[in-house]
Amino acid sequence: MRREVSDTFRKSYPQLSVSPRLLLGPGPSNAHPRVLQALGMRQVGHLDPQFLEIMNRNQDLIRYVWQTDNRMCIPVSGTGSAAMEATFANLIEPGDKVLIGVMGYFGMRMVDMAERYGAEVVTIRKPWGESFSFEEISEAVISHKPVILGLVHAETSTGARQPLEGVGDLCRDNDTLLLVDTVTSMGGVPLFIDDWKIDAAYAGSQKCLSCPPGISPLTFGSRALDKINGRSGKVKNWYLDMSLLSSYWGKERSYHHTAPINMNYGFYEAMRLVVEEGLRERWERHQRNADLLVSELGKIGLEPYVKDEIRLPSLITVAVPEGVDAKKVTAALLNDYNIEIGNGLGELAGKVWRIGLMGFNSRPENVALVTTAMEKILNQSS
Ligand SMILES: Cc1ncc(COP(=O)(O)O)c(C=O)c1O
Repeated sequence: MRREVSDTFRKSYPQLSVSPRLLLGPGPSNAHPRVLQALGMRQVGHLDPQFLEIMNRNQDLIRYVWQTDNRMCIPVSGTGSAAMEATFANLIEPGDKVLIGVMGYFGMRMVDMAERYGAEVVTIRKPWGESFSFEEISEAVISHKPVILGLVHAETSTGARQPLEGVGDLCRDNDTLLLVDTVTSMGGVPLFIDDWKIDAAYAGSQKCLSCPPGISPLTFGSRALDKINGRSGKVKNWYLDMSLLSSYWGKERSYHHTAPINMNYGFYEAMRLVVEEGLRERWERHQRNADLLVSELGKIGLEPYVKDEIRLPSLITVAVPEGVDAKKVTAALLNDYNIEIGNGLGELAGKVWRIGLMGFNSRPENVALVTTAMEKILNQSS
C-alpha cells in the first residue's frame, strides 16, 4: 500500500536572514571575509589529491600557530569540545588519577569529561577571575602524582590567563602528562607548545582564528602518544579514537570519516592569515587592542575584573557597576547596536560582562564602537 507523505511540516519557511552582528562576546567571533569566501568554494572529494594536500598544509599551519614540531597535529571535525573530548578519551584509562585546575567553567567541563572516561579526578580550585601560582600547581602535582594534569590556558568564563612557564618541566619530573585547553588563546595569546613542554592540547576555530565553529586543532606530543599506544583497552569513543584518526590524518590517508571539506578550506584561509600577519605581531595586536579597550572603558567609569598580570587580551571581563542590570545592557547592545557581548557565567553571573576582541575582531574601531554604545546605554539607564 502506498503510504501518504505527511505535510505537517510542509509550509512556507522564510528565506534565511540574519542581522549584521558584531560578535564581541566570548565566541564565536566574526569570521574574516577571506575565510567566508573560502568556505563557499566548490567541493572536491575528501580523498581527492587536492584535498589531501590541503590536509597536509592544515597540519603544518597548526604546527606554526602552536609552535610545535609534533607529528600528531590535526584539525578535528567538530567544535572545541570535540577536540577536548578527544584528548580525554584517548589519554585516560579507567582508574588514572587526573588533577584538574578549576578556575572557571571550562575547568569544570574538564572534570566532567575526565570522570566520564573513568578517571579518579582530584582538583585544585581558585575563585573565578584568578589563576594558579606555580607553587600551588607544584604542591598539588608533587602530592598527588597524577597521570595527567589538566589546565585551561585561557579561561573564557573569567578572562584569566593561566601562566604555564615551568609547569611542563614539573610534570616531566613527576611522570605526569600536561594537557592544556587553548581554545581562547591559540592565535591570540603567546603560547609555545614545545617550549612549554605541553603534551596534549586542543583549541577551537571560532575565537582568535576567525573561522566559524566546526573544526578544532588537536595535538599530542610523543609522551602522550606513548601513553595512547600503551593502552590496555580500546578508546571508548569510536569517532575520536586517535589510533583510527591517525591513519586518516597520517601517511595512509585511509577513510575514517568524511572530513568537512569546506570547513577545512575556511580553516586553511584562517591559518594563512595568521602566517601573513606573523604570530608575534598577531599576539601584539591582541594585546594593544585589549589595552586600548581597558583604557577607553576607564574613561566611562568601567573597570576590568581581572588583574593586569593575568588578564587575557582575547577576552576581557568588565566589572558591572553597583545597581546596573548587566543583562539589560547586553540586550540593549544587541537590539539597538547589533553588538554582541557576553554576560557573566556561574560565579560571575550578574557581576561581569565578557568582551571578546578575537582575531579579525581585535581592532581599534571595534573598541570605539562597543565603548561608545555602552556609554550611551549606561547614561540612558542612570
Ligand atoms: C576555554 C574553552 N574550552 C572549551 C570550549 C568548548 O568549545 P566549543 O564551544 O567550540 O565546543 C570553549 C568554548 O567557548 C572554551 O572557551
